[in-house]
Formats: sequence, C-alpha cells, structure tokens
Amino acid sequence: MKQLTNTKAGKLTQDRREFLLKTGSLSVMSLFGMSFFTACSSSEDMDPSSPDDSGGDDSGNGIEVSGGTVTIDLSKQSGLKTNGGWLLVSEARVLVVNIGNDMFSALTSVCTHSNCADNWKFQSSQFVCGCHGSRFTTDGSVANGPASSPLTSYSTMLQDDILTIMK
Ligand code: FES
Repeated sequence: MKQLTNTKAGKLTQDRREFLLKTGSLSVMSLFGMSFFTACSSSEDMDPSSPDDSGGDDSGNGIEVSGGTVTIDLSKQSGLKTNGGWLLVSEARVLVVNIGNDMFSALTSVCTHSNCADNWKFQSSQFVCGCHGSRFTTDGSVANGPASSPLTSYSTMLQDDILTIMK
C-alpha cells in the first residue's frame, strides 16, 4: 500500500517535471520568437539582438513602415550610423547596412535560396543567411551559394538623420 502511494507520488512528480519542462520550453520559444520577429540593430560580425527595437509603426524605436516605404530615424538607431552597422526590419522584410560615407544599401531580407527572411548575420562585410549559409555582398550579389540569385536591392535616401527606403 505504501509502495503504491510512493508510485503515485512519483508519477505526480514526473508529471510536474514534464509540465515544467514544457512550459519552460514555451517560454524560451517565446523569447526567441521575439528576437526573430523584431527589427534588430547590430554592428558587423554580431548577431542581431535588441528585442526592444521592435519594428512596425512604433515611432519609439525610430522605425516606421508604411506601404512600400520604411523610414528609420538614425538618432534612435545609432548603430546604423557607423560603417558596417546594419539592421533587419522584419515587418518590412528589409536588410539595411551602412556602407560608409553616409551611404546605405537596402535589400530584401527574403533569401533567394529558400525564402528564409529573419535569420541573418552580417559578417566580413557580407550578409549571411542562417538557414543554409548563403552569403551576399552589400549590393545583394551572391558571394556564396547555395543561393544563385541576388537579393533585390531598394533605393535609399538620407536627409538629416532620416533614412528612407523605398521598396
Ligand atoms: S534560405 Fe537562405 S541559404 Fe537557404
């Protein structure tokens, strides 16, 4: 009888452990979800971060997406002010990088290999798709496959501290 009780208690402990593991996994997934689906600013050779910099039309982070136009207030996205500073605006599916001398390159973030859009790094002056490792130069050209087509490039305009990207 006592052994039965211990077995029951053991099962309850096991159920509780499984519950905690599952809810813990969901919490971790939620955290990753936040970072994958928000805009991120970073310097070269760094992973995107800064989940507080969410995209969309929240002017708090200086990023506004309206139709085919993205405006970025560089005073609020200071990482973009330096050569090699880059940003993924997930909502607009746009990558933008400072290529020096107040010039910027804006590209689609939809990889031409298999359409991954939110898994990018910027390393050695190239965008690297984290899904299968394709590398693209800052003008969108393929530097290394498996992708074989370039990323679409968008025009940019800088006026004062406002960078406008036209898709
Ligand atoms: S989706 Fe980008 S390399 Fe495959």
